[in-house]
Amino acid sequence: MYRDPVQSLETVVPSQAMRALRVGMIGIGTVGSGTFRVLARNHDQIAARAGRGIEIVIVAARNLARAAGIVGEGVALTDDAMRVATHPELDVVVEVAGGTGAARDWVLAAIAHGKHVVTANKALLAEHGGEIFEAARRHGVAVAYEGAVAVSIPIVKALREGLVANRIEWVAGIVNGTTNFILSKMRDEGLDFGAALAQAQALGYAEADPTFDIEGIDAAHKLTLLAANAFGMPLRFADVQAEGITALQGLDVACSEQLGFRVKLLGVARRREEGVELRVQPALVPAEHLMAHVNGSMNAVMVKGDASGVTMYYGAGAGSEQTASAVIADLVDVARLAGTPAAQRVPHLGFHAHAMNALEVLPRAAVRSAHYLRVPVHAAGGIEAVTAWLASQQVPVRRVTLAAPCAAGAQVLVLTEPMAQGALDLAVHALQSHPAVAGAVATLRVEMLEA
Ligand code: HSE
Repeated sequence: MYRDPVQSLETVVPSQAMRALRVGMIGIGTVGSGTFRVLARNHDQIAARAGRGIEIVIVAARNLARAAGIVGEGVALTDDAMRVATHPELDVVVEVAGGTGAARDWVLAAIAHGKHVVTANKALLAEHGGEIFEAARRHGVAVAYEGAVAVSIPIVKALREGLVANRIEWVAGIVNGTTNFILSKMRDEGLDFGAALAQAQALGYAEADPTFDIEGIDAAHKLTLLAANAFGMPLRFADVQAEGITALQGLDVACSEQLGFRVKLLGVARRREEGVELRVQPALVPAEHLMAHVNGSMNAVMVKGDASGVTMYYGAGAGSEQTASAVIADLVDVARLAGTPAAQRVPHLGFHAHAMNALEVLPRAAVRSAHYLRVPVHAAGGIEAVTAWLASQQVPVRRVTLAAPCAAGAQVLVLTEPMAQGALDLAVHALQSHPAVAGAVATLRVEMLEA
């Protein structure tokens, strides 16, 4: 019997019975404040997807006055991070303070007190992850760290979930935004290393100690986590061969270009018969390869699975809300650990009964984009006629030019600014009968795919 697949879908509402997940946060700098903003902005949607609310109830901060301005009312503040780590009423501790000294103590204390931990602290996990994950195993809690690697890219989830069926053969990534920014500036603007680093620091990409970025240590931390996920191996940070970009000369960036390559700081974890290669180093990448086009502070990770083949993931490698996106995804995962209805534990269509009718599908006429038009015209002078006509019809034009001479006669090429498809259709219909037009006008949508 035919069953309408949409009708038969279970609709999902947040469980009334599940109390909100209670969260304590240690540190409220860039990532912590971003987490507050995103949680507040998307509160209802996140709760619906998690199956329960997510409430940050206490925050440990060094500067309480500043923190008070971020967290708003109803959130307790303390300058004692250990109080948060051991707080009896919390389900989860989010550690976004950074560092590997006190942060290790807080995380181990939280685990010992039966709390799940969410952290974006790659140095902590790369260097002390063995001890931390072992403690979590003993206490039956989760340590989630999507924000520790290439923040906005859900690469940990891709490896653990989407690619779970695969034997991973290699992972390669541009996972440090600061060095990628520096390399891009050296190439595009001919800046020397020092000037490019100063710009990266001014834009807030670099770690507090930029040595971690430019010597490849930050990338090595992330590669350690990627390799452990990809190959199920222990965290072997000390074994990563890490080389940074401080010795790289601008001349070599230019000469690589001439040979058809770009220089990128790549982290590579590759399974070989004899073992696993773990290395971070500046490397030449063919200029036409997608990786060569990952520029500025952006990150990208490629994964080769035996079944999936090569897949690639691209996104911001740093940033307040970008990291918050990953931290909150981990919180939702933790929220789903207990008693969540099946439909919320695995990917599903995400219907929420209360929101089901909120989003309409736009009709074609209302879809906005830029457009490409090719207008066959009778003779020289056609370009002026078409340009004037488009202006008279108030079609927003970005560019008009003549196609390079071709057998098909004179063709005027037009790129419009974004406009509604309905308006474009009307304009093209009318343009078709303009005396200067010699044939069918071709149109295509232009998708700028802006970031
Ligand atoms: N300093 C890091 C980078 C920030 O440049 O990628 C995010 O880990």
